[in-house]
This record gives sequence, C-alpha cells and structure tokens, in this order.
Amino acid sequence: MSLLIIGGTGTLGRQVVLQALTKGYKVRCMVRNFRRANFLKEWGAELVYGDLSIPETIPPCLQGITAVIDASTSRPSDLDALKKVDWDGKSVLIEASKAAKIKRFIFCSTQNNEQFKTIPLMEMKQGIEVKLKDSQIPYTIFRLSGFYQGLIEQYAIPILENLPIWVTNENTAVSYMDTQDVAKFCLRSLQLPETENKTYILGGPKGWVSSEIISLCEQLAGQTAKVNRIPLFGLKLISQFFGFFEWGQNISDRLAFSEILSIDSNFSKSTFDIYKTFKIESNEVIQLDDYFLEYFIRLLKRLRDINFEDVQKQKNLVI
Ligand SMILES: NC(=O)c1ccc[n+]([C@@H]2O[C@H](COP(=O)([O-])OP(=O)(O)OC[C@H]3O[C@@H](n4cnc5c(N)ncnc54)[C@H](OP(=O)(O)O)[C@@H]3O)[C@@H](O)[C@H]2O)c1
Repeated sequence: MSLLIIGGTGTLGRQVVLQALTKGYKVRCMVRNFRRANFLKEWGAELVYGDLSIPETIPPCLQGITAVIDASTSRPSDLDALKKVDWDGKSVLIEASKAAKIKRFIFCSTQNNEQFKTIPLMEMKQGIEVKLKDSQIPYTIFRLSGFYQGLIEQYAIPILENLPIWVTNENTAVSYMDTQDVAKFCLRSLQLPETENKTYILGGPKGWVSSEIISLCEQLAGQTAKVNRIPLFGLKLISQFFGFFEWGQNISDRLAFSEILSIDSNFSKSTFDIYKTFKIESNEVIQLDDYFLEYFIRLLKRLRDINFEDVQKQKNLVI
C-alpha cells in the first residue's frame, strides 16, 4: 500500500511518517519546502512538491497512491493561509483523491468542532468532514484532543523560564495524547476494515486539569509557577473580538482551544471503546507523567552537557 502523507513535517505528521516507514509502507510526503522536509527523506520517505494553497500542485501528488493521511493544518505564522489551506486546499484534495480513486482517506479533525461554528477553523474542520463523507471516498475521521507536545510550550517552558502561565478559572479536564499514539491509531485504521467510514473522538486515557499539569511541571522542574487566571467569559469576549482562532497563536486562542476540548464530559467510556476497536491497550499509551519526566530528564542532561562544555572552554582559555 502506498501512502500520501500531508503535514509530514508537523508535530503529528512526522510521527505518522516514521511509524508508516517502520511498518514497511511506501511513503510519499507532500511538502512545500524540500530543505525543511529533508529529514523525512533521510528516514526513507519520497518527497513530492505540493502546497495546499496552490490547487494545481495537488493532483500530481496522488499518482499511484492508495491511501491519504491528512495531518496538515495552516501554520499560525502563515497569515491569511487559514481558508486557503484548511478549506480551499482540503476541498481540492478531496476532489483530487476521488478522481485518483483513493481507497482510504484519513482526516485529522478536532473534537467538538460542530459546537464552535463561530470559530473559523472549527467551522472548516466540520465542513471538510462533511465533504469527505459526501465524497464517497472510504474515510476514517479522527477528532483529536490536544497533544502532549503543545504542553511543553504552554506549561513546561514558562515554568523553567519563570514566565507567567495563563489558565482559565474552569477546572475542566482535557484528555491530551502523545502524537506517537495518535499516529498509531491512524496507521492501525488502515488495517481494520471496520474503521472505514467511521468518525472517532480520540483522546488519551486520562483527563488532566491545568492545576495538575502545573504541579507536575513544578515538581519536575523544582520551581514554582507564576499562574495567571483568566475567566472563561473574558476569554470568550476576547475570542469574539478577534473573530479568529488558531491554537498556538496567542494566549486567548490556546485557552479557547482547551475549552473546546474539555466540553465533552464523557471521555472515558467512549475513549476505552475506541481503544478496544483499535486493539490498543490503554497501558500501551504514553502517559503524560512519563512524557514530562522524559522531557525534563533530557533537558537537564542537555543543560549539564552545556555547562560541562563551558567549563572545558574556560579551562582551555586558562591553558
Ligand atoms: N496540535 C493539536 O493539539 C491538535 C489538536 C487537535 C487536532 N489537531 C489536528 O491534527 C493535525 C496535525 O496537527 P499538528 O499540530 O501536528 O500540526 P503542525 O505541527 O502545525 O503541522 C502542520 C503541517 O501542515 C503543513 N502545512 C501547512 N500549510 C501547508 C500548505 N499550504 N500545504 C501543505 N502543507 C501545509 C505544515 O508544513 P510546513 O512544515 O511546510 O509548514 C506541517 O507539516 C491537524 O490537522 C490539526 O488540525 C491538532
């Protein structure tokens, strides 16, 4: 089976590429910058030029492809790209995939998007889900929760750098996941015919409230966090004022995102049912405590190495 992966340079996409190659799939990545994507080539993927915001570059990427995994989204730094990528580009991608008789299309969406139609990205995710379902291409949609990787920037780094952390005053739990595990589900679905034409709301096995994440980081960093709380209604006003949403862009957006992910209170039952369908045990999934522990160990080792190198340099100067 040959796969076209879109978003291969991204946080989730690179895990999908790595695991697909390890499993022996023929992997082609649609990329818009060969230099930035060179690591994917080194891993063994074929790179093909394609840019979702340039429609004519899309169909050639699909030649000889059996399945598409779309883990892309517009970068917050690409101003004005949201509609071009997440709506226009993806609409063309679906049409081109239909023409290319793609056997499975895996789309990475977001949880609860249908409830947040005022947020453009959520509205587009919802609209693309509908287009994909209507296209008659066999599909699997994953409505994803937040990724552990995003928590490093949101919690770990500010604590380490003694900067303030912004959280809402709601105590709602979010079932974050490691992208390695999300990738596992995406690839497993290719082998499970029963996951065809299904939508899965996928989250980690445990819901985390922000105060728990903060104490975990404080413990591991050996430092106390400076926490700023913002009421949810204030956040809604800010979001409405800007009328734009892209997580990672700024504080209000990131917090609005956590609200989206936390509105569903029935995570556990549905999550465990999904794990069963995908034959993945919940203890196989990386836990947030372990993810953070490994991050802090790696970071502290790096700091020790840098310190050691500095001492060596100073010694050399003295000599
Ligand atoms: N992050 C989360 O917490 C979260 C939560 C729920 C759902 N999701 C969904 O999960 C998926 C993966 O998210 P992520 O956080 O891994 O994304 P990410 O790290 O921001 O990566 C985005 C990817 O999309 C590619 N891309 C951007 N514009 C493109 C264009 N014009 N043409 C082709 N490719 C383009 C980027 O390529 P370049 O390297 O060239 O920029 C990159 O590979 C997305 O669909 C996202 O909506 C994410």
